[in-house]
Amino acid sequence: MNDQLTEYRIKKAPYYRATGDETELYEAAYSVRMPMMLKGPTGCGKTRFVEYMAYKLGKPLITVACNEDMTASDLVGRFLLDPQGTRWQDGPLTLAARLGAICYLDEVVEARQDTTVVIHPLTDNRRVLPLEKKGELVQAHPDFQLVISYNPGYQSLMKDLKQSTKQRFGALDFNYPDHEIEAEIVSHETGVNKEVADKLVSIAERARNLKGHGLDEGISTRMLVYAGSLINKGVEAKAACRVTLVRPITDDPDMRDALDAAVTTYF
Ligand SMILES: Nc1ncnc2c1ncn2[C@@H]1O[C@H](COP(=O)(O)OP(=O)(O)OP(=O)(O)O)[C@@H](O)[C@H]1O
Ligand SMILES: [Mg+2]
Repeated sequence: MNDQLTEYRIKKAPYYRATGDETELYEAAYSVRMPMMLKGPTGCGKTRFVEYMAYKLGKPLITVACNEDMTASDLVGRFLLDPQGTRWQDGPLTLAARLGAICYLDEVVEARQDTTVVIHPLTDNRRVLPLEKKGELVQAHPDFQLVISYNPGYQSLMKDLKQSTKQRFGALDFNYPDHEIEAEIVSHETGVNKEVADKLVSIAERARNLKGHGLDEGISTRMLVYAGSLINKGVEAKAACRVTLVRPITDDPDMRDALDAAVTTYF
């Protein structure tokens, strides 16, 4: 094992509760090294899923949080100046391709399109990465796989991925899990009992129905985990819900009242 990758190995099995056949599908996709796109709203388990799959497949995971200021060099690498002269430093994508990691580009639409196109030659059957500044063509390691995440709700037409990018990926849809499964997750992650977890999920379901009717996004599984952790620390349930479920998602006084009322129904 290349020790440059040691820090990217996932040492402890991440807890991931499957909600359908996503683990089998991902394994099949990995077996043919198909690039994958994970689609779904914020806080529904995409990152946890890749961590779990990387662990299960025994592959290191290199994650890059994408943003609009990111350049192709941030992914691919650049020359650095040091006292000895100039030295090339691989970016995270190059490192993953060279050494055979799973490379997870989180929120890839945030990156500009001229940045996104550097992944093209890696995601077709060439599986190469040209380092133009260095004059090197990196042939991807057989274990290398590219995974991107994508929140379909947030895209403006300007910011969407190009079809030529999208069509290079297989895609898995993620969403908030069904009631029972979500309660199981919240209980497992926070230590609250089934009854409390169940109530938290019910509150979230109410809020999710308000999406598009005054709320941009529903209460995510992540937020329920926050709520559960505070409750488990002894914070009074209503106060915990206000801090973690209601206040973060809206500033609108009427919407806050509606959500507070939903909380009061259950706690
Ligand atoms: N299926 C699941 N199994 C286990 N935990 C889950 C699952 N779904 C959600 N969670 C919990 O929800 C939290 C948020 O999930 P995660 O960070 O994977 O969201 P995400 O989809 O990557 O969100 P974002 O788009 O904002 O990055 C996790 O830390 C975990 O506690
Ligand atoms: Mg994530």
